Amino acid sequence: MVPLKRRKVVSSGAGSAGSDDVTSPTRFPQVVLFLLERKMGASRRAFLSQLGGKNGFQVEELCSERVTHVICENNSGEEVRRWLESQVGSPAHLLDVSWFTESMRAGRPVEILDRHKLQEQQINEVEVEAFSTPSYACQRRTTLDNHNAVLTDALSLLAENAELSDEDGRGVAFRRAAAVLKSLPEPVTGLTQLRGLPCLGGHSLRVIKDVLENGASSEVEATKQSERFNALKVLTGIFGVGVKTAERWIRERIVGLQQLQDSEQTLNRAQQAGLRHYEDLNQPVTRAEADAVAAVVEEAVASVLPGARVTLIGGFRRGKLTGHDVDFLITHPEEGREAGLMPKVVSWLDSQGFLLYQKTSRNSYLEAEDGPGRPSSNMDRFERCFSVFKLPEEARRGAEEARRGAEETEPCSSSPAAVSQVKGEGLKPWRAVRVDLVVSPISQFAFALLGWTGSKLFERELRRWAGHEKAMSLSSHALYDNRQSRYLRASSEEEIFAHLGLEFIPPSERNA
Ligand code: CTP
Ligand code: MN
Ligand code: MN
Repeated sequence: MVPLKRRKVVSSGAGSAGSDDVTSPTRFPQVVLFLLERKMGASRRAFLSQLGGKNGFQVEELCSERVTHVICENNSGEEVRRWLESQVGSPAHLLDVSWFTESMRAGRPVEILDRHKLQEQQINEVEVEAFSTPSYACQRRTTLDNHNAVLTDALSLLAENAELSDEDGRGVAFRRAAAVLKSLPEPVTGLTQLRGLPCLGGHSLRVIKDVLENGASSEVEATKQSERFNALKVLTGIFGVGVKTAERWIRERIVGLQQLQDSEQTLNRAQQAGLRHYEDLNQPVTRAEADAVAAVVEEAVASVLPGARVTLIGGFRRGKLTGHDVDFLITHPEEGREAGLMPKVVSWLDSQGFLLYQKTSRNSYLEAEDGPGRPSSNMDRFERCFSVFKLPEEARRGAEEARRGAEETEPCSSSPAAVSQVKGEGLKPWRAVRVDLVVSPISQFAFALLGWTGSKLFERELRRWAGHEKAMSLSSHALYDNRQSRYLRASSEEEIFAHLGLEFIPPSERNA
């Protein structure tokens, strides 16, 4: 918090306002006013001083110990108190100008109510370096360069906990608050800098305050210790296991992997694969591994449909260095040629031994039947495939060397897999990697690309912006203008941002 600068009180004329010749005699000897000029401004202060005098109030020009009521406009209690202490020592009533105007109207000093007292959280924008930012994440540029990781980690953990507790509303609130902090150009050092920022509710502010003042949030620390939270994390960390299933298992006293393995629970195919490859799937996928998977997918696609295009999407398109999976969007420049492509790609991959698990769903989106914007349900309507790849060690290493060559960095191999090879542990010559494949017709490609690049919060905010601010419905298939009752076509992401009246934000700045 930055203290109020000392300010010389400039005398606005001869003598004090109280002794001005237009004033009435003092009617309230127990009340001595002082009007603080800063924020109020000299001319308004002079006007109000004169008004006070006319109504029989004593108004002092200089702040002294005689003053009983300090009248301020737009200042915080704390600032004024500090300033007064530096001036005269004992604080009088610190009041908002509303007390003054009401007293003038009443012709007497009105009772001091809570709302008249200066708010502690009000701060002075002139002297505190406050941040400002637009309220939708899709209006902001959020790079991976997060200057407030300690704060955003705390808020993200509470978001995760809310999501694991089926409190999605609270989860989104924490995610939005974290996203605002991620977009700030510098570390936050005091709460006052956050005044006026959007999406920071009372709960998030309490957490931020805790971290700023004590280095940690008690709520976050308690959550980290919570058995339920930890059990939910472990169980939902199994590919194919959602919150509902995890909760059911916890009710049956299954809180860990061993207990699950020893139990009689029947697992579906996805969960069996998830449990079998638990360790691999919970180890972050590196950029080099993503490259290796890309090479395999490109070969598969080229073999079954020459001319089809593969694009890396998801977190890696946003420039992330690691991810929980690798995401690809596949299309063909001739509309319709992409139909039925996924089963062919999948069977090629399977025949080459690259698949440990896959589940393919058909394209079920038809504009004519589905109509505009059912954004959430539309997400799943492309031909898509959730899979677990078996990535051979040599493919991974090849991609890593290629990447190192390209970046001209030191030849040092320190990735976990390489280390375990050196140690002679983990002789398994491959690792499991989660891979998502999506096929879109070229006419929907731009929407699919935008919709699958993320981040999840950025996507959510784009759709909220479209709906609330533009009366449009955005999905990964289309953009519909509700006012004009028509679809807005686009062949690039830039065109979609333009339709939405938003500045174009490149993928690397969508890390909200
Ligand atoms: N997505 C979607 N529908 C789903 C799952 C994901 O539309 N059922 C979209 C989301 O918009 C998300 C993108 O696909 O932004 C990628 O999802 P995901 O792989 O879960 O997240 P990433 O941002 O890639 O993060 P990570 O690096 O952890 O994989
Ligand atoms: Mn991903
Ligand atoms: Mn994914």
